[in-house]
Amino acid sequence: MAKKAYNRKDKYYHKAKDEGFRSRAAYKLIQINQQFKLLKPGISAVDLGYAPGSWMQVISREIGSLGKLIGIDLESPKFTPEKNTEIITGDIREERTKQLLLMALSRKVDLIVSDMAPHLSGIKFQDHYNSYELAEQAFKICRIVLKETGNFVVKLFPGEELGQFKQNLKGSFKKIDTYIPDATRKSSTEVYLIARGFKLPQNQ
Ligand SMILES: C[S@@+](CC[C@H](N)C(=O)[O-])C[C@H]1O[C@@H](n2cnc3c(N)ncnc32)[C@H](O)[C@@H]1O
Repeated sequence: MAKKAYNRKDKYYHKAKDEGFRSRAAYKLIQINQQFKLLKPGISAVDLGYAPGSWMQVISREIGSLGKLIGIDLESPKFTPEKNTEIITGDIREERTKQLLLMALSRKVDLIVSDMAPHLSGIKFQDHYNSYELAEQAFKICRIVLKETGNFVVKLFPGEELGQFKQNLKGSFKKIDTYIPDATRKSSTEVYLIARGFKLPQNQ
């Protein structure tokens, strides 16, 4: 029997179109936020791998005019950023991009989210490793610009590195949860780690 065709235009795709979001991914963050209440008026946040920009729409709306949001992506923006939003185009693995982020911030931030995903090679272990490398880079950014007690959301495709990565996070955050939003496609293996209560590194 023929396999059921992958339905790109599912209910979240249509909902995103109707509600004016740049992508259906918006609902993943909305559901993460419903569960963990991370977005509050006036907070500052960094969105790693923001393009096409639906998480930025959600964050910008929730943090309001007193909040500040910086998005970083390899891609250049295809939209006009909201008033409380700034964009950096660059590779998060490069020192130059980290420097641009530091220059854009006047103080440490309350929240870092990473929905970064590598370009898939189709080679499973390679894709898992690349996803883990991006998550490691996002964690590195936390150690540079996340406030004490701040929160971190990071996407990962589980492979053998997941356990070790979670273990590393445990040393730096009070609580780690693994969450799969309903909006994640059933065909995807992605999970989100929600790390809350950042503990500053000892030497800071
Ligand atoms: C799944 S998309 C993010 C979708 C986004 N959360 C939204 O709501 O529209 C993943 C993004 O990660 C970005 N990305 C991947 N590797 C990156 C890197 N090394 N540095 C910066 N961005 C990266 C990609 O360019 C891509 O736009």
